[in-house]
Amino acid sequence: MSNTAQPVDVVFTKGLPKIELHAHLTGSISRECLHDIWETRKARDPAIDLEDPLVAIPTGKVDYDIKTFFPLFSSYIYKLCNNLPSIQYSTKAVLQDFQADGVVYLELRTTPRAMPGANLTKDDYVSTILDILKSHNEQTSNTMRAFLILSIDRRNTVIEAQEVVDLAIKYQSAGVVGVDLCGDPAKGDVRIFADVFARAKVEGLKITLHFAETELSASDMELSTLLSWKPDRLGHVIHVKEEFQRIIKKENIGVELCLSCNVHAKMITGTYSDHHFGMWRHGGVPVALSTDDVGVFCSPISQEYFLAAQHFSLGRDDIKALCEGAVESIFGGLNEKARLGKLYAKWSGWSS
Ligand code: IMP
Ligand code: ZN
Repeated sequence: MSNTAQPVDVVFTKGLPKIELHAHLTGSISRECLHDIWETRKARDPAIDLEDPLVAIPTGKVDYDIKTFFPLFSSYIYKLCNNLPSIQYSTKAVLQDFQADGVVYLELRTTPRAMPGANLTKDDYVSTILDILKSHNEQTSNTMRAFLILSIDRRNTVIEAQEVVDLAIKYQSAGVVGVDLCGDPAKGDVRIFADVFARAKVEGLKITLHFAETELSASDMELSTLLSWKPDRLGHVIHVKEEFQRIIKKENIGVELCLSCNVHAKMITGTYSDHHFGMWRHGGVPVALSTDDVGVFCSPISQEYFLAAQHFSLGRDDIKALCEGAVESIFGGLNEKARLGKLYAKWSGWSS
């Protein structure tokens, strides 16, 4: 039987070696993991003033929209995960979850966060996470390799954003591969970060940007500003008129597309079959299906591949082309590209 004739079912997408390029660390923590952290903290300090995560973020609830999504972090998850043990425990759990879902290459992103109550600086936060990534990568039984992208929040000041780039430069040799622009798309003026991203680029860091996530963050001014920074990849790319689509295609900028997140958060009109993945997959640029925040939207990357196949009638050959395209846009360097290229060329699951 040829590749095209065999079904793309969940068994296939689970076994498929997958690349995940757009995953926010804190948004990728499962509810069970948050619950474990809460139980441990409650046992030590019964007076802790935080609801059980299974009550605060009920199991099965995925309909967080752009208004309810961001406060989930600032008013809850960041209060729960605000010391060294919770950061270590949750980072390990997130890596295990991606590995168990068949991810072979992960670029995790996170916004450096100081935790004064636990006497931790932003530098401590980043180095703690990198230590965990390092021990994961060093374990030969782990088939997934993980790298880190540091995020600048749209609400940051220029000084805060430069601090993120300082950390990215400092830890470049320890696994930081790029810098991201994220955060509430209703906030901030991206123009203030031009010099910040220019410096990151000069220092050899790759750049990915949340791009046209909502109509509010898709003005001509904003999109032309972001594209003038010569990003290597763009996340979401929803409200993009043809003029900007043409630039993205001409410059072969990779796109990170998050189906379930966009559907559940009502960032697109309609449902899966209306998703702009349908357009971008013919756009000639690398397309990386991604989860964004699997802890919130509860659709692991294996499910995202399955949903894409189901709603856009993808065969195994289409999936192979998609995966090979994503390899081209990774930030992890030539050795990783070669490893992944070989892995896809040799994977026996294409026809079994
Ligand atoms: P962290 O950076 O590891 O703490 O992950 C959570 C943070 O990622 C949130 O506070 C947001 O700033 C950012 N984030 C997560 N999902 C999105 C998104 O879809 N758009 C923009 N920012 C996001
Ligand atoms: Zn995102």
